[in-house]
Amino acid sequence: MQPSVPGRMDIEALRAHTPGCLHRVHLNNAGAALLSKQTLDAMVEHLRLEAAIGGYEAADREQGAIASTYTNLAELIGGRADEVALFDNATHAWNAAFYSLSFKPGDRILTGRAEYGSNVLAYLQLAERTGVEVVVVPNDDSGQLDTEALRNSIDEHTRLVGVSHIPTSGGLINPVGEIGRITRAAGVPFLLDATQSVGQFPVDVREIGCDMLTGTGRKFLRGPRGTGFLWVGAAALEYLDPFVAEIGSARWDGQRGFTWKSGAQRFSTWEKNYSAVLGLSAAVRQALDLGLNAIGDRAVSLGAALRDRLGDLPGVSTHDLGTNRCAIVTALVAGIESEDVARSLAVQRINVTVTVPSHTQFDTEERGLPPLVRLSPHYYNTEAELETAVEAIARATSGKGGLVG
Ligand SMILES: Cc1ncc(COP(=O)(O)O)c(C=O)c1O
Repeated sequence: MQPSVPGRMDIEALRAHTPGCLHRVHLNNAGAALLSKQTLDAMVEHLRLEAAIGGYEAADREQGAIASTYTNLAELIGGRADEVALFDNATHAWNAAFYSLSFKPGDRILTGRAEYGSNVLAYLQLAERTGVEVVVVPNDDSGQLDTEALRNSIDEHTRLVGVSHIPTSGGLINPVGEIGRITRAAGVPFLLDATQSVGQFPVDVREIGCDMLTGTGRKFLRGPRGTGFLWVGAAALEYLDPFVAEIGSARWDGQRGFTWKSGAQRFSTWEKNYSAVLGLSAAVRQALDLGLNAIGDRAVSLGAALRDRLGDLPGVSTHDLGTNRCAIVTALVAGIESEDVARSLAVQRINVTVTVPSHTQFDTEERGLPPLVRLSPHYYNTEAELETAVEAIARATSGKGGLVG
């Protein structure tokens, strides 16, 4: 990560343009970040236009802005606009790539302990259907995917490496650059789930060397709910056979013939929520204008500060793995259920969430982890807000004021 431009971010101004900052301490950016006013306005304006002139007519009028969504996303991840397809969430984007790969019995899929639950369920379904083997590459001593073990696990039957950059359940950042170097050298497709990393810090598909990447709008990108995207590199288009043909993804040539649309459009559905698409575009533009280096520096350092502060509290432990950690912080308060901690914080208008161990079972089973309190600051949070959350947790542990609510 490059050093940020000092003073580039006017946090107070950014907060003034974020309605949700007014009355809440929002530390649930790994769930869904707060929309900025610009993003909200882009969405509401388009809804009003649809109501005023009709949905198809509004999309026609906003064609240019809609097209910018693809160029903005491409700029964000270092790809090309025609390599991007839009979806209603990251899972559908990931499915579009995964189910377009072909597998036969005996093929192997390599994944990591941090892999997201829906991706693992798809691997398991495919294992049942076709007899592929799902191999979980172990972690190294720091808790990140062991790249040496990955290198040694790749053989002539390996058809895919599928990895989550950052898990839903913790601060780990997997070493995706090294994973990309290994998969490139081996000629094995690399499907990267970047749902928690895109928007949090710079993510560049060419630097990483992945073949397919998926992301969501609502998390660290600060886009609306119900948005996601897939990036597919030109080389991967050659071997992916899109798993759904419809009028958004293919052209019926007449009678019995059809042609896939060009580039990543062959994975797209025809119908879209254009208000959400334009909201996503506005959010991506804002992230680009702020600079992903500056965003990443601040978000990650707020995460580190929060992790340190919580780790210093008696009776509180943090559980984030890896050598490089992100803005997601997971904590356990001794003797208090994480759900009760989160509920108590919610009453005090502090938004956090609780990890669901079954969503990352390869990891949680190995570590025997219960549900954890997940706190995820973003660049627009302040040190004072972190302090508010830490103090609320300290009160809960000390019994002074205890749990609220
Ligand atoms: C690592 C990871 N991958 C995928 C997803 C799924 O994203 P979506 O809910 O947009 O489908 C999540 C959501 O929490 C996630 O954390």
